[in-house]
Amino acid sequence: MLYQNLARPVLFRIGRGDAERAHDFTMRWLTRLSEQRQVRNALIKANRLSAPVTVCGIPFPNPIGLAAGLDKNGVAVGAWPALGFGFAEIGTVTALPQPGNPQPRMFRAKQSQAIVNRMGFNNEGAQALAARLQASPAVDCPLGISIGKSKAVPLEGAIDDYLTSLRFLYPFADYIAINVSSPNTPGLRQLQDAGALRALLGALHAEGVRLAAGRPTRPILVKIAPDLTEPALAQLLGVCLESGVAGVIATNTTLGRDGIIPAEDAVAAEPGGMSGKPLTLVSREIVRFVHRETNGRLPIIGSGGIMTPDDAQAMFDAGASLVQIYSGLIYNGPGVVRGSARRYRKTVRRHQSAAHS
Ligand SMILES: Cc1cc2nc3c(=O)[nH]c(=O)nc-3n(C[C@H](O)[C@H](O)[C@H](O)COP(=O)(O)O)c2cc1C
Repeated sequence: MLYQNLARPVLFRIGRGDAERAHDFTMRWLTRLSEQRQVRNALIKANRLSAPVTVCGIPFPNPIGLAAGLDKNGVAVGAWPALGFGFAEIGTVTALPQPGNPQPRMFRAKQSQAIVNRMGFNNEGAQALAARLQASPAVDCPLGISIGKSKAVPLEGAIDDYLTSLRFLYPFADYIAINVSSPNTPGLRQLQDAGALRALLGALHAEGVRLAAGRPTRPILVKIAPDLTEPALAQLLGVCLESGVAGVIATNTTLGRDGIIPAEDAVAAEPGGMSGKPLTLVSREIVRFVHRETNGRLPIIGSGGIMTPDDAQAMFDAGASLVQIYSGLIYNGPGVVRGSARRYRKTVRRHQSAAHS
């Protein structure tokens, strides 16, 4: 409640007219927190709920993660566990540093609890992220690193472009997320087509084996769009299963606009991907479909419209092993992270005591 009544009004005022200003302000604050080891450690102790779970061979302190896109350059890796997160996905980064699309490019539909963005992978590049992570003190939670295609590189050059990022970042990632689902890089979603995806995943898997040099390989997860038809999604999942992919992140933002109220149709008219509350049911149904279609063989990270602990629990019930939050953090603050972990822990305990009785 403190967040909704105190911090959010200030942040939304800073970001009035351009939501990205509030984002930059918050990130500067979190970067500072990330660098304050003692404060950070005290906050981790106070805020992070223990609800341990192992997924894809990685032990997570709790299954509630930060979704990609908020900490694209890994400037606040120490702050995320201090806010209660059990893991964080940083990036999306690209092989080439790039400025992203012209501003404004992030829009809030407050009453609908939605965000429309067309950031376009603004980031400092994979090499800069690797250097920053190399210099960072030990990170207190598992890190996923999301990689995407540089805008200047044509689709035919995508594989080499992803491989370049993979080589820089492999040593620093607990898992690698392959972003083929952002709507804001022209043509990117075509990499979800079976042929293109098979070639890309085959190359990344082979390079992962080479980089692991005899040690266990890092899990590779594929992040998918919520806008695929069921047959296209079923085909994509088949390719994932045959390519040694460790799991799926479902979902990215949608091109749809259902759920934005008419009073906010100026935001709905902005080009870009929509996240937040209108995505809740869409993403949950995709998670349910992926779980059913793969018979639970591919672990799922559920992402999309988790605004409350109940939404997080519903995502687990639909088949997710882990969840990620972005818009829910903006609208409802870090309380939703702790609340979701607490809710998950309660459910696990209830199941355990039912199994023992
Ligand atoms: C401003 C913004 C930037 C984002 N950037 C990325 C990104 O770089 N890579 C990515 O995989 N997803 C990105 N996303 C998508 C989120 O990771 C998440 O999948 C999506 O917003 C749905 O979750 P939510 O409803 O909790 O926000 C971005 C989302 C927002 C709102």
